Amino acid sequence: MSYYQIENLEEYFKHYKKSIREPKKFWGKIAEENFTWYQNWDKVLEGDLFQANVKWFSNAKLNIVKNCLDRHLSKRGNKNAIIFEPNNPDEPSQFITYNELYERVCKMANVLLEQGVKKGDRVCIYLPMIPELTISILACARIGAIHSVIFAGFSASALASRIEDCGAKLVITSDGAFRGNKVLDLKAIVDEALTQTPEVAKVLLVKRTNNKINIVPNRDLWVDDLLAAASSNSVAEVMDAEDPLFILYTSGSTGKPKGMLHTTAGYMVYVGYTFKNLFNYKEDDIFWCTADIGWITGHSYNLYGPLLNGATTVIFEGVPSYPDFGRFWQVIEKHKITQFYTAPTAIRALAKENLSFVDNHDLSSLRVLGSVGEPINEEAWHWYNNHVGQKKCPIIDTWWQTETGGVLISALPFITPTKPTYASLPLPGVLPVLMDDKRNEIDDNQVVGNLCIKQPWPGMARTIWGDHQRFIDTYFTAFPGKYFTGDGALRDEVGYYRITGRVDDVVIVSGHNLGTAPIEDAINEHPAVAESAIVGYPHDVKGNGLYGFVTLKEIGEYRDRNNLIKEINEQIATSIGPIAKLDKIQFVEGLPKTRSGKIMRRILRKIAEGDFSNFGDTSTLLDPEIVDKIKDGKI
Ligand code: PRX
Repeated sequence: MSYYQIENLEEYFKHYKKSIREPKKFWGKIAEENFTWYQNWDKVLEGDLFQANVKWFSNAKLNIVKNCLDRHLSKRGNKNAIIFEPNNPDEPSQFITYNELYERVCKMANVLLEQGVKKGDRVCIYLPMIPELTISILACARIGAIHSVIFAGFSASALASRIEDCGAKLVITSDGAFRGNKVLDLKAIVDEALTQTPEVAKVLLVKRTNNKINIVPNRDLWVDDLLAAASSNSVAEVMDAEDPLFILYTSGSTGKPKGMLHTTAGYMVYVGYTFKNLFNYKEDDIFWCTADIGWITGHSYNLYGPLLNGATTVIFEGVPSYPDFGRFWQVIEKHKITQFYTAPTAIRALAKENLSFVDNHDLSSLRVLGSVGEPINEEAWHWYNNHVGQKKCPIIDTWWQTETGGVLISALPFITPTKPTYASLPLPGVLPVLMDDKRNEIDDNQVVGNLCIKQPWPGMARTIWGDHQRFIDTYFTAFPGKYFTGDGALRDEVGYYRITGRVDDVVIVSGHNLGTAPIEDAINEHPAVAESAIVGYPHDVKGNGLYGFVTLKEIGEYRDRNNLIKEINEQIATSIGPIAKLDKIQFVEGLPKTRSGKIMRRILRKIAEGDFSNFGDTSTLLDPEIVDKIKDGKI
C-alpha cells in the first residue's frame, strides 16, 4: 500500500492514524517509494521537541534538484516545467520544458562554481518573479549552496541586514523589475545595501528591464555573459539529509528578522507529499500559485512542490490589477489553469471590482482553489466559491507558516467536506493541540487556545540561522515538548480547526507577516518621534491594517501633521519596505503603560478597532486618564 496519495476520507483517517502512531514507518515508506536517494537513511527520525533537536532521515544522501529535475527527464523531458507569464500581457508567455530547465540550471550551477561559490556558502537572491529566480535557486541547491531569497519589495536596509545576518558572499539580482505600470530599480537598492556589506564579493546581474544601471567593476557581472561560456555538464552535489537547503527570513514579534533554516531531506519529502495531496495533483494539470517566490508559499508550492512532482508551474511576474482587474482570470483562461492558489487579500481586493472582470473569462479549466496566508472571511470565501470556482471547485484553506515548511492544517479537495473559515483537519503526520495559558491541554470545543504541534514533522525548520537559543526560546519554551505556533485557534465538534489569528505582536497584513517591534524601531528613528506603538486592526481588503499610536518629542514643532505622517511612512519604507507602511497614525500625548513600563497593547487594539466598550482591568496603568484622552483623539 502506498501512502503517497490519499484517495478518500476513509483512507485519510487510516493514513492519519498510521502517521501519528508510527511516524517513522509512515514517512520512511513515503520517502523510499517516491524520491531518489544516493544513499538511504540510518534512522527516519531522531531527537524530540523538548530539545528542539529533530533530525529526519539521518545520514541519507541526496540532492533535491536531482529529485526536481534529473529524474523526470526520461519521462517528462519535453513537458513544460515552467510557464512564465510576463507582467505585460502583450509580451509572449515563455514555456520552459524540463529538458530546458535542467540545462539552464546546470549552466547556472557551473557559473556559481566558477565564481567561487562552494557547498555551504550562502547566496542571496533578490530578483523579480522571472524564470531566472527559480533557476538561481535550483542552481544553488544543485551545488549545495544555501539560498536565501529576499522578497524584491524589501528596502536596501532590510536587504543589507539579511545579507549580513546570513553572511552571503554573492548576490543575484537584475537590472530592474516590471511591476504593473512601474519599473523598479532593484540594482540601485542592491548597490545601496552593499555599501553596508563589504564581504559580498560578486553580484550577478540578470537582464530584464534594460534600464540604465551602475556597474561596479570587478564586482558586478552580467549573468548572460557567464552562462554563454558555461558548460551544461553538472553532477549534483551529494548532500546530507540535514544539510541546510535554504534560509528564509520571517518577522518576529521582537528583534531582528529570524532566518528560518530548512534542511534538505525532510523539507523535500514533506513538500512533495503535501503538494500532491493538497492540490489533488494529476499529471496534465497546470498549477498556479500566485505567491512570490520570496515568501515560503512560493518556495514550497510555486517551486519545490510542483517540480518534485514533475508538474507544470506558472510563474507570474505581474500584479492582479494590471492592466486591469481581470488579469488573474485572463491568465487562468489563457493557460487553462487547473489549480489556483492565492491569498484572501487578493480575493477581497478583486471582489470589490466589477463582476464583469471575472465573468468575461472562461474559468472552466479550474478544479481546485486554494487560500493561504491569513484567515479567509466568509464573504471572500463565498465570492471565491461562486464566481471563481463556480461552485464546482473545492476551496482548501491552508494553514501553515514559514517555520513549518509546508501546510499543516487543510482540507483535501474532493475528500474533506469544507466549511468556510475553518482550515479543517491536520494533514497526516501533524498532531495539533490547543493549550491554555496555564499550559493545560484544552479538550473542549469552541474554546480558543494557543495552537501547538505535539509531534515532529519532516518539513519543520531546524533552527534560526546563527541563533539556536532564539529558536528554542521562541518556539519550544512556552509549552515544553511542543512547537508553539504563535497563533490562536479553536476546534469544533468534528475536530475541524479554525485559526483565530496571532496571539503575539505579529500582524498579518495582506498575508504578510509583520512584526510590530521593527516598525516601531523604524518610526522612532524619526527626529520628531518620542515613542510609538503599533497594533493591527480589521481592514476590509488587507485583513489587518496597521495603526500607529505616536508620541512626539515636541508637539509644536511639527505643525503640519500630514507631512509628518508622510515622513514617518517614508522612514518605514526605507527601513523595512513599503509593505510595512501604516494605514492610520494617531498622535497621542502618551501611551497606556503599566507601572512597570509595559505598553498595554490590548487597550490600543480596542481603540484601533473602534471598540470603546470594555477596556478590562486598567488599574495597573500608571496614568489611567491617558486612555480617555487617546479615545477622544486628544493630544
Ligand atoms: O497567523 C498565521 C497566518 O500566517 C502566519 C504565518 O505567516 P508566514 O510565515 O508569512 O507564512 C504565510 C504563508 C504560509 C501564521 O502564523 N496564516 C497563514 N495561513 C493561514 C493563516 N491564518 C489563518 N488561516 C490560514 N490559512
